[in-house]
Amino acid sequence: MDIDRRDLAKKAIEAMEYSYSPYSNFTVGVALLGKSGKVYSGCNVENAAYSPTNCGERTAFFKAVSEGETEFKGIAIAGKSRDQKEIQDFCSPCGVCRQVMAEFCSPEEFKIILVKNEQELQEYLLKDLLPLGFTKDQISI
Ligand code: THU
Repeated sequence: MDIDRRDLAKKAIEAMEYSYSPYSNFTVGVALLGKSGKVYSGCNVENAAYSPTNCGERTAFFKAVSEGETEFKGIAIAGKSRDQKEIQDFCSPCGVCRQVMAEFCSPEEFKIILVKNEQELQEYLLKDLLPLGFTKDQISI
Protein backbone atom coordinates (compact mmCIF):
# COMPACT_ATOMS: atom_id res chain seq x y z
CA MET A 1 0.00 0.00 0.00
CA ASP A 2 1.40 3.35 -1.02
CA ILE A 3 0.85 6.61 0.81
CA ASP A 4 -2.29 8.67 0.17
CA ARG A 5 -0.39 11.96 0.09
CA ARG A 6 -3.40 14.23 -0.25
CA ASP A 7 -5.16 12.60 2.68
CA LEU A 8 -2.04 12.93 4.82
CA ALA A 9 -1.67 16.58 3.73
CA LYS A 10 -5.30 17.30 4.65
CA LYS A 11 -4.81 15.78 8.09
CA ALA A 12 -1.62 17.81 8.67
CA ILE A 13 -3.47 21.03 7.77
CA GLU A 14 -6.33 20.07 10.12
CA ALA A 15 -3.88 19.35 12.96
CA MET A 16 -2.62 22.97 12.89
CA GLU A 17 -5.91 23.91 14.57
CA TYR A 18 -4.80 22.46 17.91
CA SER A 19 -1.34 24.06 17.91
CA TYR A 20 -0.55 25.53 21.32
CA SER A 21 1.72 28.36 20.24
CA PRO A 22 0.98 31.56 22.18
CA TYR A 23 4.68 32.63 22.12
CA SER A 24 5.65 32.24 18.47
CA ASN A 25 2.14 32.29 16.98
CA PHE A 26 3.53 29.79 14.47
CA THR A 27 1.15 26.85 14.14
CA VAL A 28 2.45 23.45 13.03
CA GLY A 29 0.31 20.43 12.20
CA VAL A 30 1.51 17.00 11.16
CA ALA A 31 0.10 13.63 10.17
CA LEU A 32 2.34 10.60 10.69
CA LEU A 33 1.49 7.36 8.89
CA GLY A 34 2.44 4.18 10.71
CA LYS A 35 3.13 0.90 8.92
CA SER A 36 -0.09 -0.40 10.53
CA GLY A 37 -2.00 2.16 8.43
CA LYS A 38 -2.94 4.27 11.43
CA VAL A 39 -2.38 8.03 11.20
CA TYR A 40 -1.16 9.97 14.24
CA SER A 41 -1.74 13.70 14.30
CA GLY A 42 0.50 16.16 16.11
CA CYS A 43 0.92 19.85 16.74
CA ASN A 44 3.55 22.04 18.37
CA VAL A 45 3.10 22.55 22.10
CA GLU A 46 4.93 25.61 23.45
CA ASN A 47 5.87 26.56 26.99
CA ALA A 48 6.44 29.81 28.89
CA ALA A 49 9.98 28.61 29.64
CA TYR A 50 10.47 28.20 25.86
CA SER A 51 12.91 25.26 25.84
CA PRO A 52 10.31 22.63 26.88
CA THR A 53 8.49 23.37 23.60
CA ASN A 54 7.72 20.25 21.58
CA CYS A 55 7.51 20.41 17.80
CA GLY A 56 4.51 18.99 15.98
CA GLU A 57 6.60 16.21 14.45
CA ARG A 58 7.86 14.94 17.81
CA THR A 59 4.38 15.17 19.31
CA ALA A 60 3.13 12.76 16.63
CA PHE A 61 6.10 10.39 16.98
CA PHE A 62 5.80 10.24 20.75
CA LYS A 63 2.05 9.67 20.56
CA ALA A 64 2.60 6.79 18.14
CA VAL A 65 5.47 5.15 20.02
CA SER A 66 3.57 5.44 23.30
CA GLU A 67 0.72 3.55 21.66
CA GLY A 68 2.98 0.74 20.47
CA GLU A 69 3.68 1.80 16.86
CA THR A 70 7.40 2.07 16.09
CA GLU A 71 7.57 1.70 12.29
CA PHE A 72 6.49 4.40 9.89
CA LYS A 73 5.93 5.12 6.19
CA GLY A 74 5.82 8.88 6.04
CA ILE A 75 4.90 12.20 7.58
CA ALA A 76 3.12 15.28 6.24
CA ILE A 77 4.02 18.66 7.77
CA ALA A 78 2.17 21.98 7.51
CA GLY A 79 2.99 25.25 9.23
CA LYS A 80 1.92 28.88 9.15
CA SER A 81 1.69 31.97 11.30
CA ARG A 82 -1.65 32.16 13.09
CA ASP A 83 -2.59 35.45 11.45
CA GLN A 84 -2.06 34.12 7.91
CA LYS A 85 -5.14 32.62 6.30
CA GLU A 86 -3.19 30.44 3.88
CA ILE A 87 0.11 28.60 4.28
CA GLN A 88 2.84 30.83 2.82
CA ASP A 89 5.87 28.53 2.76
CA PHE A 90 6.77 24.88 3.05
CA CYS A 91 7.60 24.07 6.69
CA SER A 92 10.69 21.92 6.93
CA PRO A 93 11.38 19.81 10.05
CA CYS A 94 13.98 21.04 12.54
CA GLY A 95 17.20 19.11 13.20
CA VAL A 96 15.99 17.62 16.47
CA CYS A 97 12.88 16.21 14.79
CA ARG A 98 14.99 14.78 11.94
CA GLN A 99 17.06 12.98 14.56
CA VAL A 100 13.90 11.53 16.15
CA MET A 101 12.79 10.35 12.70
CA ALA A 102 16.19 8.66 12.27
CA GLU A 103 15.60 6.64 15.43
CA PHE A 104 12.53 4.94 13.99
CA CYS A 105 12.54 5.34 10.21
CA SER A 106 14.44 4.01 7.23
CA PRO A 107 16.57 6.76 5.63
CA GLU A 108 15.97 5.19 2.21
CA GLU A 109 12.20 4.76 2.53
CA PHE A 110 10.66 7.20 5.00
CA LYS A 111 8.89 10.01 3.13
CA ILE A 112 8.75 13.58 4.42
CA ILE A 113 5.97 15.52 2.72
CA LEU A 114 5.93 19.30 3.07
CA VAL A 115 2.50 20.81 2.57
CA LYS A 116 1.31 24.12 1.13
CA ASN A 117 -2.15 22.79 0.37
CA GLU A 118 -3.58 19.43 -0.70
CA GLN A 119 -2.19 19.92 -4.22
CA GLU A 120 1.13 21.66 -3.63
CA LEU A 121 3.48 19.25 -1.90
CA GLN A 122 7.23 18.70 -1.74
CA GLU A 123 8.52 15.24 -1.00
CA TYR A 124 11.88 14.14 0.39
CA LEU A 125 13.36 10.97 1.76
CA LEU A 126 14.82 11.06 5.28
CA LYS A 127 18.30 10.47 3.84
CA ASP A 128 17.97 13.73 1.84
CA LEU A 129 17.17 15.79 4.95
CA LEU A 130 19.54 14.05 7.37
CA PRO A 131 22.66 12.93 5.49
CA LEU A 132 25.25 11.19 7.67
CA GLY A 133 22.86 11.14 10.62
CA PHE A 134 23.85 9.54 13.91
CA THR A 135 22.02 6.28 14.48
CA LYS A 136 21.83 3.47 17.01
CA ASP A 137 24.01 1.34 14.68
CA GLN A 138 26.97 3.45 15.79
CA ILE A 139 26.58 2.66 19.48
CA SER A 140 27.94 -0.65 20.68
CA ILE A 141 25.88 -1.76 23.65
N1 THU B 1 8.13 24.00 15.00
C1 THU B 1 7.57 22.77 14.77
O1 THU B 1 6.62 22.36 15.44
N2 THU B 1 8.10 22.00 13.79
C2 THU B 1 9.11 22.39 12.97
O2 THU B 1 9.51 21.62 12.12
C3 THU B 1 9.70 23.72 13.10
C4 THU B 1 9.27 24.50 14.27
C5 THU B 1 7.52 24.84 16.02
C6 THU B 1 8.33 25.07 17.27
C7 THU B 1 7.75 26.37 17.77
O3 THU B 1 6.59 26.10 18.53
C8 THU B 1 7.34 27.11 16.52
O4 THU B 1 7.28 26.12 15.49
C9 THU B 1 8.27 28.22 16.11
O5 THU B 1 9.59 27.77 16.05
